[in-house]
Amino acid sequence: MGYYSYMINLDGVQSFAEGGNRKCYINPTNPKRCLKVLHENILQNLQKNSAWYKHLGNSDGLDDNLREEKAYKQKAIKYPINSSIWDHLAKWYGMVETNLGPASETELITNDGEIAETLEAYLFREGLTPEIKTALSTFESWLRTHQVLTKNIIPHNVVIKKENGPLTLKIIDGLGSKSFIPLPKYSKFFARIYVDRRIDLMWSRIHWDLSGRIGNWK
Ligand SMILES: Nc1ncnc2c1ncn2[C@@H]1O[C@H](COP(=O)(O)OP(=O)(O)O)[C@@H](O)[C@H]1O
Ligand SMILES: [Mg+2]
Repeated sequence: MGYYSYMINLDGVQSFAEGGNRKCYINPTNPKRCLKVLHENILQNLQKNSAWYKHLGNSDGLDDNLREEKAYKQKAIKYPINSSIWDHLAKWYGMVETNLGPASETELITNDGEIAETLEAYLFREGLTPEIKTALSTFESWLRTHQVLTKNIIPHNVVIKKENGPLTLKIIDGLGSKSFIPLPKYSKFFARIYVDRRIDLMWSRIHWDLSGRIGNWK
């Protein structure tokens, strides 16, 4: 928490979206930012089990806000090779207190004032258009250039920014590394293998989504 943090009241504020773990709100004190609060039951379970939760080394596996906070501190983002690190990543503003519990505060991705659509929604409606293929290939080279460590890249965790012309993909969830073995964090060699694998699986997930989700995607 920051030194001059204060509690944000989310009473009467409607969430604009929900994932499996968190509810998303437009920050009532700054409409350009998104606040994500863990679902009530998740928070309660974490608090109920706080004794072992705190002692568990990989507690970020349970708390998506903790996972994300750590993930934004990864080398690729903390020491970026250049400012293009933010081209495909919602900015991170840290944790803030709300009356619904701690929230992660990030850049809200919008297009002309509307909340940006997910890659998943786009693919279901439009399919693999030439524009989205171009956007995906730009996104891919960005991942390889910066070696950003992500969990599996799922189309509902990526949104589309339309910047006069080309479509730009932005990761809004799923940063961090998946493996229990932290090798990709410390070794360029393993990071490359890890990132290549995430890209392969991203494509396999996209094709699986588009095929009507038949069989297994991994
Ligand atoms: N920064 C953002 N800008 C625009 N939309 C967002 C943003 N963050 C989340 N969303 C929307 O909210 C949904 C759920 O958010 P997400 O962070 O994926 O929650 P969860 O951790 O529960 O999966 C996303 O699928 C997306 O539609
Ligand atoms: Mg999500």
